[in-house]
Formats: sequence, structure tokens, C-alpha cells
Amino acid sequence: MVRQAHHERPGKKLLNDLKEIALADSVIELENITRVYQMGDIQVQALSGVSTLIKRGEMVAIMGPSGSGKSTLMNILGCLDTPTSGSYLFEGKEIGKFNDDQLAEVRNRKIGFIFQSFNLLRRTTAAANVELPLVYGNGRGRRERALKALERVGLAHRANHKPSELSGGEQQRVAIARALVNNPSLILADEPTGNLDSRSSNEIMDIFCQLNKKDGITLVLVTHERDVALFTQRIIFVKDGKVVNEEILKTGSEIR
Ligand SMILES: Nc1ncnc2c1ncn2[C@@H]1O[C@H](COP(=O)(O)OP(=O)(O)OP(=O)(O)O)[C@@H](O)[C@H]1O
Ligand SMILES: [Mg+2]
Repeated sequence: MVRQAHHERPGKKLLNDLKEIALADSVIELENITRVYQMGDIQVQALSGVSTLIKRGEMVAIMGPSGSGKSTLMNILGCLDTPTSGSYLFEGKEIGKFNDDQLAEVRNRKIGFIFQSFNLLRRTTAAANVELPLVYGNGRGRRERALKALERVGLAHRANHKPSELSGGEQQRVAIARALVNNPSLILADEPTGNLDSRSSNEIMDIFCQLNKKDGITLVLVTHERDVALFTQRIIFVKDGKVVNEEILKTGSEIR
């Protein structure tokens, strides 16, 4: 009996290990995700069956016409919204089965979110803005961690400036530092360069590329500009709430 159990074990263990490795390889796995907004009597179908896979360490752009469902999709990826139906595996775990605490944990610790309009508090300094996501922690070393994050985006020297004293590009870098302060494995950015001139856009994209290549952070960003998308490895095209096309820009060997 005992010997038999021993014989069975390695095979099962190997299978489980392989399964885990396969799942660990994908950060995002969506299957048939739908999102219907109820507006009084009217239903708006924002997403109508999105299935896609984003692997660890990838940098991906999402493009598509206005109203095609890009932000809706990003909000679901960031656990800011829940799908009407479908399955979302984040790092191999079904998000739909998470309770509120587990969702908050993923949202706060695993994912950094960046918006087109920066969403900084106007009256507080860059450093204080970056510290915000740390309020749930034990409070120790907050300022230090905020300064480190600001350093990563080249803004340590602006730590005591308020948003109104910073350029648009600098404000977005503060927002990136805020997204980084909890060391997320995934960064989601919804039109991060939408309010920026092309020089600032390129600076932001350079920072994203660094975070992706050097720190291995998986990055998904929405953009209307092909020039911005060309910084990434792959473009996912969305239309009418569906993935309609995909374009591979760089393969493994081309990614530095
Ligand atoms: N909170 C909401 N309530 C009702 N309808 C919504 C809501 N948010 C989005 N929609 C609708 O869902 C559809 C998809 O919107 P979404 O914001 O995801 O598009 P988008 O691709 O991000 O567009 P844009 O490029 O203009 O940002 C649109 O028809 C929109 O009007
Ligand atoms: Mg949008």
C-alpha cells in the first residue's frame, strides 16, 4: 500500500508542478469576458466576449476606436470593476472567487494603475502623493519608499513640489511612482500619454520600457497613437467590445 502511494506521488506532483508553471507564466487569462452596463431600461454591451492571454513580462498595447470597450476592459483587469460574465485568471487565480479583502489586496499590492488625467491630489507634494497607497501598510519607512519610487522615474529632485508646480510629463511620472510604490507585478495604464506632448510621451514610454525590461513588470497600456503602441511588443485591437485582431511587433529575441 505504502509503496504504491509512493509510486503515484511523483507523477501527480510533476503534473501539478507543470500546471503551476504553465499558469504562473500568464499574468492575465481572460475567457469570454462580457460587461453590460444597465442604464435605466437600456443595456449597454461594453464588452461582448473578450478572450485573451497576457504573459508575465510582456508589454502590450490595446488599441481601438472610442467606445470600443478599452477602459471597461482595463477596469476589469485592474479589479476596479467586475465582469457581467466570463472568467478572469490573475496569476492563475480566478478573480471571480475572491472576496472583497482579497480583491483589495490584489488591487493595492499587485497592480499599479495609471490614468490619462494623472489623478494626483493637488494640494499635496509629489512625495505625499506617492505615499498614498502605503496608508494601508504599517507606516514605517513610507517617505523613504516614496522617494525611492520617485527616483525610479527620475523625479527625486521634485519630491517637495506640488502637482501645479510640475509639467504634465512630470505629473505623470509622479503617478507612475505612485503606481510603483507597492512593487506591483502588473502595471495598467489607460491612455497614459493622452494629455502629453510627444516629447513627454516618449519620456513616459521610455520609463515604461525600462520598468518592463529591467524590473520585469508586465505592462498593459491603452493608446490611440500608433507611435506609442510601437514601444510595446504586441498590439491587441478591440472593436465593439471584442478582440478583433492582434499584431506582434517584437519577438523574444528582439526584446532587450
Ligand atoms: N459607467 C458606464 N455606464 C454606462 N455605459 C458606459 C459606462 N462606461 C462606459 N460605458 C459605455 O460602454 C462602452 C465602452 O466604453 P469605454 O469607456 O470602455 O470605451 P473606450 O474604448 O475606453 O473609449 P475611449 O477611447 O473614448 O476612452 C461605450 O459605449 C460607453 O458609452
Ligand atoms: Mg477609454
